[in-house]
Amino acid sequence: MNMGLKWLENNKMLSQRADQVGPKALFDELNSSRWQYADADMAEARVKEIESRAGPLKECNSIYEVGAGKGAFYFAARAAGFKGTYYIADIPVMKAVLSAGGVEAIWVTEAPTDVDLFVAHYSLSEIPIAMRAPLLPSRPQTAYVIFQHVFAEMDAIDNEAYFSRWFAEQRQAYEHSERVESKYGGSCLYLWGLV
Ligand SMILES: C[S@@+](CC[C@H](N)C(=O)[O-])C[C@H]1O[C@@H](n2cnc3c(N)ncnc32)[C@H](O)[C@@H]1O
Repeated sequence: MNMGLKWLENNKMLSQRADQVGPKALFDELNSSRWQYADADMAEARVKEIESRAGPLKECNSIYEVGAGKGAFYFAARAAGFKGTYYIADIPVMKAVLSAGGVEAIWVTEAPTDVDLFVAHYSLSEIPIAMRAPLLPSRPQTAYVIFQHVFAEMDAIDNEAYFSRWFAEQRQAYEHSERVESKYGGSCLYLWGLV
């Protein structure tokens, strides 16, 4: 995230930039370091962490991601052998930008049903709480959410309270759950082994 920018300004800047240079050039810019989204190494590490808990992604049928950034997790999942359906919920401009960069996904505005893997990395936690409910999937096989404890740019959203409650509710449906601190800030929540 560009620190210091408010969430809506950030989204508006992306749209303005896409209008100026076109979606493919913006995709290339996002993948140059101007925007501090997860890079390929970080995304590969996240894939490995998920696979170490829940098994290989090549055996997974569907992934649903909220806030795909520059597509790093998408490309890391495909590189790991994921061949299934990839759903993405993101702001409209990102559909054009990531599609121009080769992302093949089904674009959604609410959570699909029956997903194998749900990922949301520093994304759900940056969206106003009132907008989150439709984006939350019901009982994915595996979930991996990373959130900032407080999102300062959105009037200091208290994510700690929100995700602690969400995690406590969800854990009852899973054989395994784990919360670890993220080395990039905030916490990672894992749920796997839906019972
Ligand atoms: C900080 S980036 C995180 C990107 C990536 N997941 C990562 O780990 O680097 C936040 C993402 O959330 C997306 N986003 C912002 N508002 C959104 C909304 N209302 N619904 C879905 N995604 C949104 C942004 O476009 C961006 O892809």
